[in-house]
Amino acid sequence: RLIPEVRIVEVGPRDGLQSIKNAIPTETKIELIHRLRKAGLRAIELTSVVSPHRIPQLADCQQVLADPTIKLLLANEQEDLRLPVLVPNTKGLEIALSHDVKEVAVFVSATEGFSKANINSTVQQGIEKARTVAQKAIEAGIAVRGYVSCIFVDPYDGPTKPSSVLHCVKELIDMGCYEVSLGDTTGAGTPAKVTSLVRFLERNGIPLDQLAGHFHDTYGQGAVNVLQAYLCGIRVFDSSVGGLGGCPFAPGAKGNVSTEDLVFMFHNAGINTGVDLAKLAESGRWITERLKQPGSRSSQCVRELR
Ligand code: HMG
Ligand code: MG
Repeated sequence: RLIPEVRIVEVGPRDGLQSIKNAIPTETKIELIHRLRKAGLRAIELTSVVSPHRIPQLADCQQVLADPTIKLLLANEQEDLRLPVLVPNTKGLEIALSHDVKEVAVFVSATEGFSKANINSTVQQGIEKARTVAQKAIEAGIAVRGYVSCIFVDPYDGPTKPSSVLHCVKELIDMGCYEVSLGDTTGAGTPAKVTSLVRFLERNGIPLDQLAGHFHDTYGQGAVNVLQAYLCGIRVFDSSVGGLGGCPFAPGAKGNVSTEDLVFMFHNAGINTGVDLAKLAESGRWITERLKQPGSRSSQCVRELR
């Protein structure tokens, strides 16, 4: 097997599904995870353990984690297979640990408006909650990934100061996150903004190999933002099968950049991702048809170019 030159973190089962209104059967969520794994994805965010009042779609997170086939995946999780679960607080962490999860993701916002809407906390309170979760997770011997939301724009407060992003990234690294994913929650980013922020973080001592890009595709800039971040030296990208995704507390924001688009783009440039594009595209068609969502355009390309 070729060593992937780019690592993709598939967030479809979590970010992809969290804002879909109609209840998706738990079995569909479980099958999606297996299909993604069989397509060669080596990092899949399985679900989130958050307030079911806030994210009703993922209220069945414990059923997903307790499923025997998912348990088997978790038991065989190794260095080259990561299955993080998003948690906002110690309650979420404790539930995740009770299901033998080996990695959690904590999340903070660089901006006050989204922080209040998303987790009912100020930015600093959010950082403190994330720190408590990270400390307990590390004590329990599991890995912690971090997210910073609203790296460019907050849906309530407008443009974000790069220094606010830097503050959150530093705090997340300091609390022990092995990697921090830069979340363009509203999809307002463009390649010029990506370069400017990545260079700013780099100048301020943030190692590029601890950063990942998490771009939402609201204005069609997702793939070009990924490419630009790649050209700046970032090698880890979050994406969602079929371009599903969005946060209900970021009004107007659309799905994540589609995993199909990234794999198609990188493979055509000779950059390996370790993902089987044909299998991935098939999974994308399967889930988006089921959810009556438009799906990724590059999955049609895979058919036509075959
Ligand atoms: P709160 O509203 O301040 O109130 O919640 P609370 O702490 O008193 O809890 C409210 C209720 O939730 C209680 O239940 C708790 O027990 C329960 P009740 O007694 O009313 O029946 N609860 C939980 N249940 C299950 N698991 C838990 C949990 N915690 C509390 N872990 C809280 C604060 C942070 C919990 C809430 O606001 C919340 O869950 N927010 C999460 C919202 C969310 O999931 N947003 C989407 C993910 S972030 C994202 O999409 C951005 C990202 O993709 C990057 C990017 O794009 O930028 C990561
Ligand atoms: Mg997101």
